[in-house]
Amino acid sequence: MISQVVLSLLLLIFTVGGIGIVLCQVNIAWQSWRGAQRNKQQLTALSNAQPLSLKVIARQELTERHFSVRLQRVNNKTLTHFLPGQYLTLMVENQSMKGSLVKGVQKRCYSLASWQENTDSYELAIQREVNGQVSTWLHSNLQIGTIIKALPPKGSFVIEPKQVRHIVLVAGGIGITPLRAMVHQFIAEIANDSSAKKTISLFYSAKTANEMCYFAEFTQLAQQYSFFTFYTFLSKPENANSELNWQGTIGRISAEQLTQKLELAENSHQSSKEKFIDKTTCHYYMCGPNAMMDDLKHGLIQQGISEANINFERFGVNIDTIGDEKFTIKLGENVCIEFRKQRTLLDAIQEQGIEIESECRTGECGQCKIKLQQGRVKQLIASDAYLNDGEILTCCSVPISDLVIEI
Ligand code: FES
Repeated sequence: MISQVVLSLLLLIFTVGGIGIVLCQVNIAWQSWRGAQRNKQQLTALSNAQPLSLKVIARQELTERHFSVRLQRVNNKTLTHFLPGQYLTLMVENQSMKGSLVKGVQKRCYSLASWQENTDSYELAIQREVNGQVSTWLHSNLQIGTIIKALPPKGSFVIEPKQVRHIVLVAGGIGITPLRAMVHQFIAEIANDSSAKKTISLFYSAKTANEMCYFAEFTQLAQQYSFFTFYTFLSKPENANSELNWQGTIGRISAEQLTQKLELAENSHQSSKEKFIDKTTCHYYMCGPNAMMDDLKHGLIQQGISEANINFERFGVNIDTIGDEKFTIKLGENVCIEFRKQRTLLDAIQEQGIEIESECRTGECGQCKIKLQQGRVKQLIASDAYLNDGEILTCCSVPISDLVIEI
């Protein structure tokens, strides 16, 4: 009798457990199907976007290798609305670039660098990249009066200021651009509401003081608004003498330094800044080199900050990661190319005049995917783009063996 009861109980447990497992698998399959549908919808939306014709109405040199431009729609048409943190995709015809073997149009994404409620122009800040054919072309050719095509603003790296009380922005190098637009947005919001009791802290790291864009503007804003604090870091100061009067920190930015500085602001009785900012209630928005963001994210999580409060925008592959190996890449039946010292697989393929769709170059849009038949690659950036079995993203992958690719 007892053994019958035990058997019945066991049967019940296995049945319920089995149903649980099946439901769990159904849920996983449902989530993955929904993810795939979302990605497909996003890709369709991207490919349907109509390019805008934009005219350069102002240009300013920010540093030796950074410049900014203001762009207006030709014929004074209304600008497509955007949110701080979003980006424009500039489209450059390859035939206008001397020596370019890439067919068609090259696209590059640049964050919108300023914001105001009713703006009549877009502002971009562009960095001339080492061996960057497109950024070099833009640097030489985007002069007042130049007309350039761009896809309308997009991107999900945005803040809803009303929902955030303490905001911490962390920029590395040219990653300052989307964060500058957020500073403008947040200051406008708080300045209109004196009861808001909100704070904004900007941490900005550059290699040298000469490479720091908008330094004077942020310094002036921090003097003007007590709720805005500006911290600076130099990771590779060139010349101790020329940077002798540097008031900021020398060295790489770390999660410990970041939270220490927030805590110092909390504890300073002289400070007019808001006291008692709890680092775990802050929302962190970061844009900079991938290694810097990965380190900061890891360090912040270790200090008890919820991953949900950490947001970041990646930009292209860090040039420091380029290796020296040589690999053979077979594309379809008849084409064989060599990979050596290119930044990514996408660069290597496009340099051979082979057309391959691409846009974001940060593993977001999924347009550059191809099917790998043989060989192995290293993916340099984590991506949420939906991939079928065997597919890889060429914009953020490098080979680690010879490859055979389906074209
Ligand atoms: S170009 Fe967008 S994911 Fe590669």
